[in-house]
Amino acid sequence: MKSLEIKGNNFLKGEVSVNGSKNSALPIIAASILVRGKVLLKQIPNISDVIDMLKILDCLNVKYHYHDNNLEIDSSKIEYCDLLGDEVKRIRASYYFIGSLLSIFNKVKISTPGGCKIGERPIDLHIDVIEKIGANCKQEVNNVEMKINEYNKVIYHFKRKSVGATINALLASANSTKRIILTNVAIEPEVIDVINFLNKIGCKIKRVRNKFICLPNNKIVDQCEYKIIPDRIEAATYITLGLLTGDIKVNNVNVKHLKSFIKPLIKNNANLVVGDSYIIAKKSRIRSFNIKAAEYPGFPTDAQPILFVLLALSEGNGIVVDNIFESRFKACIMLNKMGASIDINKEEARYEGVRELNGYEVEASDLRCAASLILAGLVANGKTVINRIEYIERGYNNIYNNLISLGASINLVTN
Ligand code: UD1
Repeated sequence: MKSLEIKGNNFLKGEVSVNGSKNSALPIIAASILVRGKVLLKQIPNISDVIDMLKILDCLNVKYHYHDNNLEIDSSKIEYCDLLGDEVKRIRASYYFIGSLLSIFNKVKISTPGGCKIGERPIDLHIDVIEKIGANCKQEVNNVEMKINEYNKVIYHFKRKSVGATINALLASANSTKRIILTNVAIEPEVIDVINFLNKIGCKIKRVRNKFICLPNNKIVDQCEYKIIPDRIEAATYITLGLLTGDIKVNNVNVKHLKSFIKPLIKNNANLVVGDSYIIAKKSRIRSFNIKAAEYPGFPTDAQPILFVLLALSEGNGIVVDNIFESRFKACIMLNKMGASIDINKEEARYEGVRELNGYEVEASDLRCAASLILAGLVANGKTVINRIEYIERGYNNIYNNLISLGASINLVTN
């Protein structure tokens, strides 16, 4: 277990560069094994979720070299293996190997995935769509086994939009001999990034608004180079930090992907300068506003606990609704201990802006909660201790050094 001690209320100033998107990197690593040769992935964040994905590659005899955010993967000697180990259970994104192993070996047996405890997080949609594509499925308490003999020509309508299930369906369709049409798909930038990668390696996936058409494919290339998109949630985190504490230029930002995040901020007095690939955020007390987390292009649920620190310190009051995952307000419970005024009722949190937060001993319960508490600790008066801070390492490349370079006073303690 690790804890982060923060001496708050420093003026933070400087520049940070956003790294590659976690939620693109994880499925694209799983997709890379479709190529029976070398794939060079650029801008892969150095985070513990990526390291766990690499451990899964070890099980499959896939070789890789990871250096300076470049990841070279060589799957020329890939061997099938049931994926039932701890490395699979630790991360949610391990489920992307369902789709890619089915495409390569026509079979997969895998432990049900782990990941951040932000709600129930079932994988029924993944299984349903892949069954309709043609797989047979046997589910046990802790694992799922799928086999595919023949692909079906299908038009599949997702009953609910799901990032993971959409990507898994695309991975499972990569070598399909039949046309597969997916409707009501998730269109998050990370899903589109996976499609761009799959098309680069030879798949033929077309997008028509909320519909993906996967044409039959039997020609995967034997090498490829691909740079993944910048992480929009990491960008949102540093933008919020600048608004809370000082003057921060956030580089390597895809502004288009952040539209739903920055639009309400600008409307409510946030001091933001938006460039073509950067955003400068300066200390501001924003006016309160209401927000509802939604699928892309709506406000991202992952950014909600992060934005909440700014809302907790805003002028006025408002309501935040987040019904994507059940336990998305855990950070608010901790923010209240630090002086925030947030009333949580299931999927709705009503807040009254306060003037300041005060240091406290708090505990992170998931990745975005950890990010939220770091922001709160940096803006709070006095000392904050965040226990279980290791969650942050799942998704933020080089965060401790970035914060120190901006002038943060932090101390990481390993217990
Ligand atoms: C992904 C992201 C996560 C983000 C989320 C929503 C990754 C690795 N994680 O998670 O950071 O918060 O999208 O943008 O990319 N659902 C089902 N059955 C399923 C699958 C999902 O009911 O089989 C439900 C979920 O419980 C949730 C909703 O659908 O309520 C959306 O989940 P989904 O988009 O699948 O999220 P993830 O892919 O898990």
